[in-house]
Amino acid sequence: MTKPQVFVVASQKGGSGKTAICRLLSVHLSRQMHSVFLIDLDIQKTLTKWHTKRTADEPKRIDLTIDALSTGLPLLANHGADFVIIDTPPSDDEDENAHFVLTPAFASADLIIIPIKPSPDDLESAGATVRRCKAFGVPFIFVVTQAISNTSITAQAIAALSQHGVVSPAVLVNRVAYPSAFAVGKTPEEISAGSSAAFETGRLWESIQAHLATQNTKQERKA
Ligand SMILES: Nc1ncnc2c1ncn2[C@@H]1O[C@H](COP(=O)(O)OP(=O)(O)OP(=O)(O)O)[C@@H](O)[C@H]1O
Ligand SMILES: [Mg+2]
Repeated sequence: MTKPQVFVVASQKGGSGKTAICRLLSVHLSRQMHSVFLIDLDIQKTLTKWHTKRTADEPKRIDLTIDALSTGLPLLANHGADFVIIDTPPSDDEDENAHFVLTPAFASADLIIIPIKPSPDDLESAGATVRRCKAFGVPFIFVVTQAISNTSITAQAIAALSQHGVVSPAVLVNRVAYPSAFAVGKTPEEISAGSSAAFETGRLWESIQAHLATQNTKQERKA
């Protein structure tokens, strides 16, 4: 039985697109016939509320407490999980509750996905999440989200973030298709598979796969 790959979606800033990425990736992977389990570690329970609106069986969601995370995750292999995607609360370095949640989540992650809006405040906050990733030695990737099309600030954000780590070449543009699909428990891909938002989601997954492949090659070289 293979251990599922665990993706933790985290960023210090509220509203950066953490829950959106959990929704988009989990549905995208489910549509590719992978077995995906969602875990919602945010007390706001935005991901859980979206999931309860869904009628489709996939992705699944499991309620695991923080304490049960390290023992519960390996057991998901017995349920055929290929991927586990964990949503986390917004946080800052001084926030004890966030520390309590993020420490076990980061410890269990194969990859941390860090959504960042292309705004100076959001960019400034990226450092805290990066420091946490580095402390745990977990690979991470930035994803620029809610970008306004054709603005230089997006290119500047990508350039600034790439000083700290790998940035997904797939940018999630600010589109009404996202919140309107989320409002009915879906993702844009499920509303219109040929939409620009669906295309972006596919590109996001491809960029994550490419990043994971480079991480595996690095580890093989070290072994
Ligand atoms: N690409 C996008 N285009 C338009 N709206 C978006 C996009 N991505 C997310 N949103 C909307 O932006 C808001 C914030 O997104 P989301 O809830 O994913 O952020 P979050 O990081 O999980 O927030 P929190 O820190 O509060 O948990 C939501 O209303 C969501 O529907
Ligand atoms: Mg959220």
